[in-house]
Amino acid sequence: MPIISKEVINDIQSKANIVDIISAYVSLEKRGKNYFGLCPFHNDVNNPSFCVNEEKKIYTCFSCHKSGNVFGFIQERENVSFIEAVKIVGDKIGYELDIQIQETSKFERHFEAVELANRFYQNNLKSADGKEARKYLTDRGINEEIIDEFEIGFAPKSNDTVTKLLLNKEFDENVLLESGLSNRSSNLYDTFRNRVTFPIHNDRGRVVGFSARIYQKIDEAKYINTRETPIFKKGEILFNYHRAQGEARKNKYLLVVEGQMDAIRIYASGIKNVVATMGTALTNDHINLLKKLNVKIILCMDNDSAGEKATIANGEIISNANIPLGILRITGAKDPDEYLLNNSVEAFEDAIKNAITFFDFKLNYLKRDKNLKKVDDVSTYINQVLRELNKSSDDILVNLTINQLSEEYGIDKNILLNKIIKVETKKVAPIKDTYKKTINKVQKYCEIIIYYMLNDIKYIKLYEQELSYLPDDLYNEIANDILAFYIKYNYISIADFITYEIEGPRYDDVLRIVDSLITNELDDQEYIVLIGKIKTMIDEQKINELKEKLKTISDINEKLKITNEIANIKKRMCE
Ligand code: GTP
Ligand code: MN
Repeated sequence: MPIISKEVINDIQSKANIVDIISAYVSLEKRGKNYFGLCPFHNDVNNPSFCVNEEKKIYTCFSCHKSGNVFGFIQERENVSFIEAVKIVGDKIGYELDIQIQETSKFERHFEAVELANRFYQNNLKSADGKEARKYLTDRGINEEIIDEFEIGFAPKSNDTVTKLLLNKEFDENVLLESGLSNRSSNLYDTFRNRVTFPIHNDRGRVVGFSARIYQKIDEAKYINTRETPIFKKGEILFNYHRAQGEARKNKYLLVVEGQMDAIRIYASGIKNVVATMGTALTNDHINLLKKLNVKIILCMDNDSAGEKATIANGEIISNANIPLGILRITGAKDPDEYLLNNSVEAFEDAIKNAITFFDFKLNYLKRDKNLKKVDDVSTYINQVLRELNKSSDDILVNLTINQLSEEYGIDKNILLNKIIKVETKKVAPIKDTYKKTINKVQKYCEIIIYYMLNDIKYIKLYEQELSYLPDDLYNEIANDILAFYIKYNYISIADFITYEIEGPRYDDVLRIVDSLITNELDDQEYIVLIGKIKTMIDEQKINELKEKLKTISDINEKLKITNEIANIKKRMCE
């Protein structure tokens, strides 16, 4: 791992404006000293509970309690390591960081094997072996340019060309098997034979596997994909994501289709913000990839009943993740690929603009196969719609729909509304507050002292003079950490201190303290009173200890000594 000095890290932190950086992900509104927005880390639909403090350079969410400094935010949002987050923030503010973040994966050999195979397939498509496959692609309207851009290739007809090639290049048999390029019967043989190959990249743009298609009319699976391997995890991969992410941010939306051929066609027609699910259902990891872009998703599944089911399933997953969603149903073609072969890009772009809401899609879907002139079907339909409305947290949508249903089917609005209330509500689940630790009075005082110390060196100095000890091990250690930070760097900043603690055992506690006290106004008088209270507590603790000791001692002189000590403490307490 590259090393960046603490000084450089703190410098980047102090130069980066946390509000500017977070604004690229969350729309923030200034209220008093803080900026507020919808929390990007939980389903924050009702009230903005995400707060950014520009001056203190930290963010915190009052609902899910995610908090930290600018690096923590980027780490969480971009799913990257701390060092990568520093690099990203550095890049954003134009800070020249002289480091290369190298992915030194223990699967480096696997990546290399797949890359080499990919280059081989590409060349092979242009050889005599690939003649027929080339014709197939041309006939499908896949020209030279698209072939090169998408690195389309051809896996040889022979049994083990690629396996042999890689073994000759000193790749381990295990690497070939584990990367899914080869299989074993008595000998190793190629997984992909006599097929058109489409390399699949991970989100960083490295080739991790293939989808390989038949090109002749033969009775075999249409596509064979790389099996699950250490570098190819289906659930984490969306075809074309690495090319689409920048484009999606630019255009503020991402098109999600089923087949890679659809994605390729759409991309080649100039709409580059497109990815394909490769026929699988979206997973949590996919959702994280989508969330990271912070853009609207336009879901465009195939024009068949499987595509309709996929729209419902994927739509539910996307909207539950609180990602803005539009549904595009193409007509007159079985999938976007076919559509674009028969229609203009402009027509497709119009269709994108006219994408409907997921809710409207579901209403249409529920109407299918029903005769809405029949009472039974109307009743079923309305009950199904009400169930859908129940999932919604959008009051306006609920109201509009109720009005519409009431008008359309002549049903009293109140009956509909009552029914909504009766159906068991499945609103956004409240966040369990396991985060909040129950703390006693002493601990509360200690936390406030720590919070003050993090805000100004004058409070650190006062602490050193007046107290220099907190009557609770955890807080005493944190206070010592603050002193150590101050002695080393000669200043204090909450955000930098968070970085300082990042790998230590007290990181979570520091975040919790900052989070719970961030709205506290600082008041010198309050601090002095608190210091006094803690002093008293320490003295009382001491007295109690001495009293306990007294009980166990029989020597009269010792007893006298302890009694004196107690008297002295009491006297001091009254001063
Ligand atoms: P083309 O016939 O080449 O146009 O395929 P398509 O892009 O229209 O794909 P289709 O809608 O048939 O399937 C969607 C996706 O599911 C494909 O892109 C593949 O990733 C995957 N898929 C399709 N058929 C198979 C198959 O037989 N096996 C496997 N493993 N995956 C398949
Ligand atoms: Mn197709």
